[in-house]
Amino acid sequence: MTQLVHTRADLHAARAGRDGEVGVVMTMGALHDGHRELIAVARKRCAVVVVTVFLNPLQFAPGEDLSRYPKTLAEDMVLCEQEGVDLVFAPSVEEVYPAGPPQVRVHAGPLGDVLEGASRPGHFDGVLTVVAKLLHLTAPDVAYFGQKDAQQLLLIARMAGDLNFPVDVVAVPTVRADDGLALSSRNTYLTVEDRAAALALSRALFAGEAAATHGPGAVRRSAQAVLDAEPAVRPDYLALVDPSTLAEVADGATGPALLAVAARVGTTRLIDNVMLTLGGA
Ligand code: PAJ
Repeated sequence: MTQLVHTRADLHAARAGRDGEVGVVMTMGALHDGHRELIAVARKRCAVVVVTVFLNPLQFAPGEDLSRYPKTLAEDMVLCEQEGVDLVFAPSVEEVYPAGPPQVRVHAGPLGDVLEGASRPGHFDGVLTVVAKLLHLTAPDVAYFGQKDAQQLLLIARMAGDLNFPVDVVAVPTVRADDGLALSSRNTYLTVEDRAAALALSRALFAGEAAATHGPGAVRRSAQAVLDAEPAVRPDYLALVDPSTLAEVADGATGPALLAVAARVGTTRLIDNVMLTLGGA
């Protein structure tokens, strides 16, 4: 049985007295097979699996999609039951921020200013602040995050290291639909036409990946050409960066790189990325 708790006190009581390694999967709800994979990976290693479901207002700017973000707690509970989750913590905003928006926050630093951070100023401060709080509240040994949100994953790992959070941050590969689209709670906003157009994101990344042995220029050109061919996709950025510094890779660079894309399709903003290895042709 998956136990559902809504308050910090009930979480504390439910969390106490459980033996073995505790793993946490943090989510904003509207769970899909990407979240399911994080839970399954946690289930394999951990004696206790905790899932948090919290739509964090701090990481949304005014005018973003906070108000229309899907809320599906009953279905989320079914998925958690199926995956053998022990505990779901689904607090209210008041429970997480009892004194209102927090005055003291985690600042993401320079890695939070580029890519997603350039398009969404302050976003990662909001993410890291809630992740820090949820780590304190759930007190896990291991926390699982998706490669789908590569910059978020990098920043959470940096926060854990830089600030000595006693948690092992584990990355889980991106789960995709059969046609390549990265699963996302935001895919529910897409019309049938939008969804078809949105495939240009993953196609662009795969085209870039296929050109990796020919170097950065070829990767960028191949990916850009796919995006250019789909007028319904309005790119925000396409970037080929060093996976640990997020700096644009120089011409002639070899080794691991992250190819990341963000674009608007209809009313929806989507992100995706692939890791690739440059050079070696
Ligand atoms: P959310 O978008 O619900 O994602 C929760 C976790 O699931 C994140 O670690 C995300 O990277 C992972 N995830 C989402 N789609 C995935 C996919 N297709 N394949 C693999 N993993 C996937 O990310 C957030 O929530 C929030 O920012 C949060 C960390 C919970 C803080 O509020």
